[in-house]
Amino acid sequence: MRAILSAKIFFCCSIVTIFFLLYMSIKEFTNRPYSNEQVKQLLERKLETSTFWSDSTSDVKIAKSDFNNTNSAKKQMKYILQWTSARNVPFIYMGVGQEGFNSRNCPHTNCIVTADRNLLGDVKKFDVIAFSGPEVIRMFHRSLPQDRSEKQKYVFASIESSHYYPICSNRLDNFFNWTWTFRLDSEVRWGYMLIKDSNNNTIGPKKIMHWMKLQDMEPISDEFKSKLRTKTKAAAWFVSNCFDKSGRMNYAMDLKKQLGKYGLELDIYGDCGTLTCPRDKQDDCDRMLDKTYYFYLSFENSFSEDYVTEKLLHALRNNVVPVVYGGANYTRFMPNGIYLNAREMGTQKLAAKMNQLISDPEKYADYFKWKRHYTYHSLHESPETDEYCRFCAILNDEQMVKRTSVIKNFRDWWDSPKFC
Ligand SMILES: *[C@@H]1O[C@H](CO)[C@@H](O)[C@H](O)[C@H]1NC(C)=O
Ligand SMILES: *[C@@H]1O[C@H](CO)[C@@H](O)[C@H](O)[C@H]1NC(C)=O
Ligand SMILES: *[C@@H]1O[C@H](CO)[C@@H](O)[C@H](O)[C@H]1NC(C)=O
Ligand SMILES: *[C@@H]1O[C@H](CO)[C@@H](O)[C@H](O)[C@H]1NC(C)=O
Repeated sequence: MRAILSAKIFFCCSIVTIFFLLYMSIKEFTNRPYSNEQVKQLLERKLETSTFWSDSTSDVKIAKSDFNNTNSAKKQMKYILQWTSARNVPFIYMGVGQEGFNSRNCPHTNCIVTADRNLLGDVKKFDVIAFSGPEVIRMFHRSLPQDRSEKQKYVFASIESSHYYPICSNRLDNFFNWTWTFRLDSEVRWGYMLIKDSNNNTIGPKKIMHWMKLQDMEPISDEFKSKLRTKTKAAAWFVSNCFDKSGRMNYAMDLKKQLGKYGLELDIYGDCGTLTCPRDKQDDCDRMLDKTYYFYLSFENSFSEDYVTEKLLHALRNNVVPVVYGGANYTRFMPNGIYLNAREMGTQKLAAKMNQLISDPEKYADYFKWKRHYTYHSLHESPETDEYCRFCAILNDEQMVKRTSVIKNFRDWWDSPKFC
């Protein structure tokens, strides 16, 4: 009886193990862009056919010479290995091979992006190994590359704030050479914005900005002032992510109450509010903001140094005064006197100030004086400033590549306040 039972258990266990192994190997296979065999086949096919080959899963084309390690082309080609999943942001938008750089018309397109660790036969041959932040902070030591070349750059890439993805140990200290984040001191900046002066020179955002003083700026034209008079409602907020680390939802609810005391409204659009303005009608929504609202809540979902997203750009470009709430030092992004800082003021003071400005059109108009002197742009407006293009551009910057750079206290750098 006992023998039959243990035979049964053995049988069951074997079946489970077999299925598990099968599952793991399928998973492993599908996780990889190409197996060794596939790469070999592709290379052979490319050698015997034309100059280009097409990969079957996407429209990416990689030039024939790209894989010839002894060819001089190798010297000009820069190889970027995505160590973590190629499907996650920001890697997914890099494209495969040169595609991401070609499609953006980048000034430099000689960079090859791959997730295949075997592409060059040795991971030490890659110019860059890039790690996506949210993944690498959870990786065990044994999942990281075991062998590295002095010449390689390890890059930490994250569009997410450290508030959501803190690093809770020191094991990534002395590991990365470059970073690709929203922080102003990153080698490649995920930028949500770019500031130009009236000569169209890029001037910021930067740690130290030399803004013109408000009183030295030219006055607002009468035409613009009369345009501002179409505004009838106090404030709008477009928000789709109701889950936040910054407490912005509670703050907004309290602000709504405070504004109510002055008979003013805060209109909340999107999944977390009662109003809607569909995403596919973005232009109409923007026009509505411009025409109807005095203020726009540019509230970030978390507090990290320099973490200022497109929410600010949205206000500035649509002629609504931004009310900011975030972990950044906003003097790096805007001159004083053109925005209100919710976190510094608190809801009571903020509501009072908003009420005061709404009832004083001259004072309110002063909040737009900057428009004569500065313009705000998104980085991907031009290939010269696009962050993906920049990634390939810095690999072509010999000085930057040669200079040894290590982020020693990575944990301190990333988690300015401690979020663990
Ligand atoms: C690779 O480089 C070698 C040496 O420069 C050259 O002889 C060969 O033709 C190249 N092969 C291809 C496919 O470009
Ligand atoms: C700056 O760029 C804008 C838009 O391209 C253009 O209209 C303007 O004339 C430029 N100004 C200067 C001073 O070059
Ligand atoms: C923000 O930056 C400015 C300019 O560097 C500095 O004078 C100011 O003290 C900073 N504010 C805070 C709260 O750190
Ligand atoms: C990259 O960082 C590593 C680890 O700290 C260091 O040994 C190496 O010299 C750095 N390489 C470059 C090219 O900056």
